[in-house]
Amino acid sequence: MSGTSTLLAPSILSADFTDLRSSIALAEKAGADWMHCDVMDGVFVPNITFGPFIIQAVAACTPTIIDTHLMITDPDRFIADFIKAGSHQITVHQEACPHLHRTVQYIRSLGAKAGVSINPATPLSTLESILPDLDLVLLMSVNPGFGGQKFIPSSVEKIAKLHGMRNEMNPDMVIAVDGGITEENAGEVVEAGADALIAGTAFFRAENPEATASKLRGLHR
Ligand code: DX5
Ligand code: ZN
Repeated sequence: MSGTSTLLAPSILSADFTDLRSSIALAEKAGADWMHCDVMDGVFVPNITFGPFIIQAVAACTPTIIDTHLMITDPDRFIADFIKAGSHQITVHQEACPHLHRTVQYIRSLGAKAGVSINPATPLSTLESILPDLDLVLLMSVNPGFGGQKFIPSSVEKIAKLHGMRNEMNPDMVIAVDGGITEENAGEVVEAGADALIAGTAFFRAENPEATASKLRGLHR
């Protein structure tokens, strides 16, 4: 995929929820490729965010791809609701799915793209058997639960390793990296093999979000 610009997915977790429509318009104007929506249940991660109702509101504000990141236990219970609400991509956590293959097939059977995410302490080997069936892997570069955390440096090596696995097993699969992305570290993250950058704080809290977006999207993979 070399020569293509990097995909940017602003995470609405850091958006202004008193004026969500304007935040989404800002992301859209800045060239966001996906709107990243972080769903947390207070069980799988130590924080609670929102459910399908907010996804529906986001989808009503923009034609952009809705990328839903489910940080919830036993996500199968709610996958249909999130797709009905307007999610085009659903990412579940490997750690939260005892029957991951079934979950991935289920997402695809409902017409959405299927992604799997792993936490920083989870080895890439846990994805080996499922990799050929995925549209996307979301590599966590912070421990999930909160925006504004610091990028874990060992993630770079993990991205590079996943990049090798992807090329061998599923060349069409997208590698997304989530957590602590900044203008400063984005270069090495893309160089290591990321196709998509999830950016909450770096985009929505930037002095000039459009300039930040153009820098991040301007990186070539
Ligand atoms: C963390 C979420 C991230 C988060 C990223 O659990 O999955 O998507 O919003 O926020 P930043 O970019 O601020 O680290
Ligand atoms: Zn996320």
